[in-house]
Amino acid sequence: MARWRDADVEALHGSVAFITGANTGIGLQTARVLARQGAAVVLGCRSHARGAAALAALRAEMPQAQVELLVFDLADVESVRRAAQEFSCRHGQLDRLICNAGVMAPPETRTAQGLELQFAVNHLGHFTLTAALLPSLLAAAQPRVTVVSSTAAAFGRMDFDDLQFARRAYQPWAAYGQSKLANLLFIRALASRCQGGAERLGVTAAHPGVCATELQRHQPGLQKLPRWIAMEPWQGALPTLRAATDPAAGSLSYYGPDGLLQVRGYPKLIAMPPAARRDGDAERLWQCSLELCALDDPLKGP
Ligand SMILES: NC(=O)c1ccc[n+]([C@@H]2O[C@H](COP(=O)([O-])OP(=O)(O)OC[C@H]3O[C@@H](n4cnc5c(N)ncnc54)[C@H](OP(=O)(O)O)[C@@H]3O)[C@@H](O)[C@H]2O)c1
Repeated sequence: MARWRDADVEALHGSVAFITGANTGIGLQTARVLARQGAAVVLGCRSHARGAAALAALRAEMPQAQVELLVFDLADVESVRRAAQEFSCRHGQLDRLICNAGVMAPPETRTAQGLELQFAVNHLGHFTLTAALLPSLLAAAQPRVTVVSSTAAAFGRMDFDDLQFARRAYQPWAAYGQSKLANLLFIRALASRCQGGAERLGVTAAHPGVCATELQRHQPGLQKLPRWIAMEPWQGALPTLRAATDPAAGSLSYYGPDGLLQVRGYPKLIAMPPAARRDGDAERLWQCSLELCALDDPLKGP
C-alpha cells in the first residue's frame, strides 16, 4: 500500500484548526501543513515570544496562510478557559482541535494549583480545553478532536489513588506514561459520550514514534539521538496529520509509524495498548478530571 504523506491531506479551505503547542516540533509542522492546505490555523502557545516567532515564520513561508496566535498555559485551568472564550469570540466554529502540546519527564514540578505538571499539562489542560470548546466544535459540520499520545502509554499505569504523586516518590517516566495513557483514556470516554447531538464529533489519536524535537529538553541523554532513530518533525507529524484529517478515520482510530516497534515510518492504523481499552478506567478518569478541574460534565455519559 502507498505510504501516506502530507501531500495526502485534503484541501481544508473554510475550516478552522486549533493546535496546542504549535510553536515548535510536531505542533509547528502540523500547523504548517494544515495552513498550506487552506485551513485557518490557531497556534495555541504558552510563550508569546515563541508563538510570535512561529507565526512570523509561517507567514514568511506562506504569505497567504491564515494563521493566528492564542497564548495560554495548559498548566493553568483559568488560562485555558480564557483561551477557549477568546477562541469562540474570534471564530464561529472549530473543525479540528489537535491536543498536541506536551512535556516529558521534567524534574518534579507542581502547578499553581498543586498538580503534578505532566498530568496537568498533557491531560487536564487538554481535557479542560476540549470541554470549553465543545460548543465551537459542535457548531462545525464534521468536527474532530485528535490527541497526541506516545508509545509511553503502553508502560503507563493509572494510579487513581495517587494521580499527583503526592503519596509515592515522584518518578518522571512513570508520570509521563500515566499522562500519555490518560490521553487515550480521555478520548475513549469522550467517544463514548458522543451522543445526543454530539454524534458528529470525531475522536482520533496518534503517536509520532521517536522524533527529534525539543521534547527531550529535560533528558540530556536523549537530546542527541541519531537520525536513523529519531525522525525529523516533517515525518513525526504525519500520524497526527492523518488522525486529524483523513476522512476514512473512524471513531477512536489511532495512528502511529509503520516501522519496527513503531519507532519510525509512515502512519498506519495501530491498536491502542490494553490499558487504554479499559472503559471503567476511562470513565473513572473522566470523573476525576471533572473534579480536579471543577467542571460540570459537558457531555452526558452512555
Ligand atoms: N518527539 C517525540 O519523540 C515524541 C514521542 C512521543 C510522543 N510525543 C508527543 O508529541 C507531542 C508534541 O511533542 P514534540 O515532540 O513536538 O515536543 P516539543 O518540541 O517540546 O513541543 C512541545 C510543545 O508543547 C508546548 N507546551 C509545553 N508545556 C506547555 C504548557 N504548559 N502550556 C502550553 N503549551 C505547552 C511547548 O511550548 P514551549 O515551546 O513554550 O515549551 C511546545 O510548543 C507531545 O504531546 C509529546 O508527548 C513526542
